[in-house]
Amino acid sequence: MLFLPLLYVLAQYTAVVIAINASSLSWYDPQLSALHATLKEEVFARRSYFYVGGKYINGTSGWVITDQMYVEKLEPQVVLHKYPLVFITGGFQIATNWLNTPDDRAGWASYFLSQGYVVYLADHVKRGRSPWAMASSALLNTTFTDLAFVQDYFIAGQRTKLWPQAVLHTQWPGTAEVGDPTFDQFYASQIQTPVDDGPYSQTIIDAYSALLDKIGASVLVSHSQGGPYGWGIGDSRPNLVKAIIALEPEGPPFENQVQKTGPARPYGITTAPITYSPAVNLTADPNAFTKVRVNSTDPDFANCLMQAEPAKQLPNLQKFPILMLTTEASYHAFYDHCTYSYLVQAGVNVEWLQLKDIGIHGNAHFVFMEKNNMEVVPLLDMWIRATVK
Ligand SMILES: *[C@@H]1O[C@H](CO)[C@@H](O)[C@H](O)[C@H]1NC(C)=O
Ligand SMILES: *[C@@H]1O[C@H](CO)[C@@H](O)[C@H](O)[C@H]1NC(C)=O
Ligand SMILES: *[C@@H]1O[C@H](CO)[C@@H](O)[C@H](O)[C@H]1NC(C)=O
Ligand SMILES: *[C@@H]1O[C@H](CO)[C@@H](O)[C@H](O)[C@H]1NC(C)=O
Ligand SMILES: *[C@@H]1O[C@H](CO)[C@@H](O)[C@H](O)[C@H]1NC(C)=O
Repeated sequence: MLFLPLLYVLAQYTAVVIAINASSLSWYDPQLSALHATLKEEVFARRSYFYVGGKYINGTSGWVITDQMYVEKLEPQVVLHKYPLVFITGGFQIATNWLNTPDDRAGWASYFLSQGYVVYLADHVKRGRSPWAMASSALLNTTFTDLAFVQDYFIAGQRTKLWPQAVLHTQWPGTAEVGDPTFDQFYASQIQTPVDDGPYSQTIIDAYSALLDKIGASVLVSHSQGGPYGWGIGDSRPNLVKAIIALEPEGPPFENQVQKTGPARPYGITTAPITYSPAVNLTADPNAFTKVRVNSTDPDFANCLMQAEPAKQLPNLQKFPILMLTTEASYHAFYDHCTYSYLVQAGVNVEWLQLKDIGIHGNAHFVFMEKNNMEVVPLLDMWIRATVK
């Protein structure tokens, strides 16, 4: 199975040529996929929980602990894999994302338990069961997903068609309207997020780094806003991250597209500083990156901001394999090629799985809770078995 290279025309600059080589899915076995896709029920697991990270500070009401993170460990009756999976949720989400779906089918955590993986599920710092201990600007200044945002971008993009691929969306379970029980369950699970992602993202990276220090080498599975957190964790603990599966990681590089426009992710794929070679410190040198606009010949795909060659490399992210997954109808289908190309250019060992290329159609950004979630998750399992040694 081959990925078609995307064709680009360069802007008037000619300094950069981005080689997007066809990526071969040697690990993909359609028969195994069919076999695995039968999980209907929750599976038995031993559950325990603990907190990681955080620090004691002298707050307005005396000493308190802050920035600790709630982690739940689910352990199957028979453990078959050396490395556990650590799930990293996206914006406005908590660990319930990976449990049963909003329409009460088995979720991806259950699938991996059924396959003998230990699974760790965390509520990011200052979300869900991870307390907001301190009055601080980050505490007071939060953002929330309103109803229209959730429908337009997450689960019913086919109605408002805010990006070209949105019309292909078919896999959300239910009507995506208020009053539909599945929709109400999903919307009720959305949670606040601090507005300023810079300092906040570093506290999350620190908490997950503390988690890896405690549990040892693991495979990370990130989604959306969790994507940059995953890159940061991999950068901070390259010897404890065995692989990253990045489900539609937040992007594209250096700027927003579709939902918003304008600069974002000043370190390319992250808001928090990350290790480049040669080193980049934007506080000391705000112009450390030389960027070029690389335009797509196809209006269905975004124009990208890339590094000019020679591109600075991401040496820590080069130390383990990465699988990026993009669905057919998500807003990420419009621009994830920019993130993939950026990682390739930075020397990272990344494969890009576009579900449409293997005949899985109609998914949007919350693929793990959509109707065919059990058709998609075996692909991740297959990749891990083939790639993580
Ligand atoms: C490339 O795209 C940008 C917008 O993304 C546009 O401003 C610019 O004019 C385009 N350049 C060319 C050569 O088409
Ligand atoms: C693409 O493949 C060619 C030939 O195998 C190789 O020289 C080049 O480094 C590859 N480029 C990337 C970005 O992997
Ligand atoms: C802690 O803060 C309180 C009031 O904010 C202050 O009176 C006290 O000296 C502080 N203690 C330490 C050890 O800094
Ligand atoms: C909250 O954050 C936004 C965006 O950074 C900013 O414009 C606004 O002034 C902040 N509000 C408060 C109360 O800090
Ligand atoms: C980045 O540069 C600033 C300003 O020069 C400096 O204070 C800071 O320590 C630097 N950060 C790192 C990680 O070197």
